[in-house]
Amino acid sequence: MNYFITTPIYYPSAKPHMGHAYSSIVTDVFARFKRLDDHEVFFLTGTDEHGLKIQKAANKEKKDPKIFCDEISKTFKDLSKILNLSNDDFIRTTEERHHKSVQFLWKKLENSGDIYLSKYKGWYSVSDEAFYNDDEVIEKDGKKISLPSGSPVEWVEEESYFFKLSAWQEKLLDFYKKNPNFILPKSRKNEVVSFVKSGLKDLSVSRKSFSWGIKVPNNKDHIIYVWLDALTNYISALDYPNEDSEKFKKFWPADLHVIGKDILRFHAVYWPAFLLSAGIKPPKKVYGHGWILSGEEKMSKSKGNILDPIQIIKDYGLDQLRYYLIKEVSFGNDGNISKKSIENCINSDLANNYGNFCQRTISFSEKNCKNKIPKYSEFSKNDLKVLNAFSDSLEKIRSMIDNQLLTDYIKFIVDRIFDANKYFNDEEPWSKKDDVKRLNTIVYVSLEIIRKISILLFPIIPNTAEKALLNLNLKIKDLNFKSIGEHFFLKPGSNLNNQGILFKKIVNK
Ligand code: MSP
Repeated sequence: MNYFITTPIYYPSAKPHMGHAYSSIVTDVFARFKRLDDHEVFFLTGTDEHGLKIQKAANKEKKDPKIFCDEISKTFKDLSKILNLSNDDFIRTTEERHHKSVQFLWKKLENSGDIYLSKYKGWYSVSDEAFYNDDEVIEKDGKKISLPSGSPVEWVEEESYFFKLSAWQEKLLDFYKKNPNFILPKSRKNEVVSFVKSGLKDLSVSRKSFSWGIKVPNNKDHIIYVWLDALTNYISALDYPNEDSEKFKKFWPADLHVIGKDILRFHAVYWPAFLLSAGIKPPKKVYGHGWILSGEEKMSKSKGNILDPIQIIKDYGLDQLRYYLIKEVSFGNDGNISKKSIENCINSDLANNYGNFCQRTISFSEKNCKNKIPKYSEFSKNDLKVLNAFSDSLEKIRSMIDNQLLTDYIKFIVDRIFDANKYFNDEEPWSKKDDVKRLNTIVYVSLEIIRKISILLFPIIPNTAEKALLNLNLKIKDLNFKSIGEHFFLKPGSNLNNQGILFKKIVNK
């Protein structure tokens, strides 16, 4: 089975922040899970480098836009390494492969009769790179701003090519009906459907008053609207326009575009309309997650309320940040983050629960089972209960991932860690020193639980989960998701390999 998953491509107008890190980390969790579940995954991320927003940011620094983009795009590429993303490609919209693909798609839209030349008169937000209708613009403190995003807008009047979006209204509504899970979460789907129902206007898809972008074929005075350019990245990376290429055939339509809720309209309305017009299948699903808030506001450069992911990683560790974002931000909703709650989460979930269970089991085995995986005897009811909680849930867990119920997924794991500690406490292996068979069985079951929980945690905290598995002399590449259903995976007699503590507690200064 193949699986194509993408992050949004980020504007390299400023250094990456926690919101970008969040989109990338959640996407990585899905990608890693799917690989563990024996899928061939293609995970794409990258940078969106054209348009007025970037041109202005480069001008401000008195830099050539390409040189400016080279520098900042590199910080995004570096961040993907720092975050330990398992992406298979990193696309930049300034690359040749992408130019070719965008210009080809443009010609397809033109050939379908969906592009015409006219004049645009209306509002434009440079920071959103979006056009707004009159009824979406309000005045605040003497300035015109867009109602949906709060960004400043300016009046634009210029010759422009238009895409006949209005002609796609009914077809889009029909598409949403036939593909009820195309837009998730459900609450956001309703917003999109009512926007489309309220009437779609044709979309301006070229700009004339600046030059930083991909030229419209056969009219060098115009550059292609940055969103038409950007969205195309998802197919450029699959060798489009070569629809016969192995990559395209294997991975298109995309299984999942992970995006923030701010860019849902582009992905759930414009993108399928462009693709349908070009005779290409739309993606299977677009998931619009919530915002990471700092205080009550969206974290963004213009608001100056940025928590730097790199600093947080330096202070607390990468897996700590990854775990925290997945655990504490209810997936699909906005989430407030703070240093205090990161510290609480590390101490209670990672150090006291998961870390402690691994540590106490491995140390106990070292001392009482000659540092080897012991032989098991007959399983008690209680043994079976903790083990069956995994084997009975394979389909349930898969469906959580397939429906992007990330918060349910982590809750399932947290419950299993709770059960594991309770099991160890209730069974009291330390009081069974004169019943070696029972002691060994309890240890065996506990080691199996470490294996299962660590496999489930691997997509979220890959480095630490690998370290935990190394306690059992296992490598993640030799394991798969299905194996959490096996009770007797570990080979009695093989050596353990104590890796020391997994998470240090944060001591409040
Ligand atoms: N370049 C466009 C996307 C083109 S995709 C074909 C863009 N870039 S962006 O850099 O402004 O933001 C991209 C994404 O970053 C958002 O959609 C969202 O996924 C993520 N976030 C940016 N700020 C965020 C928060 N404060 N919180 C969570 N994610 C947010 O839009």
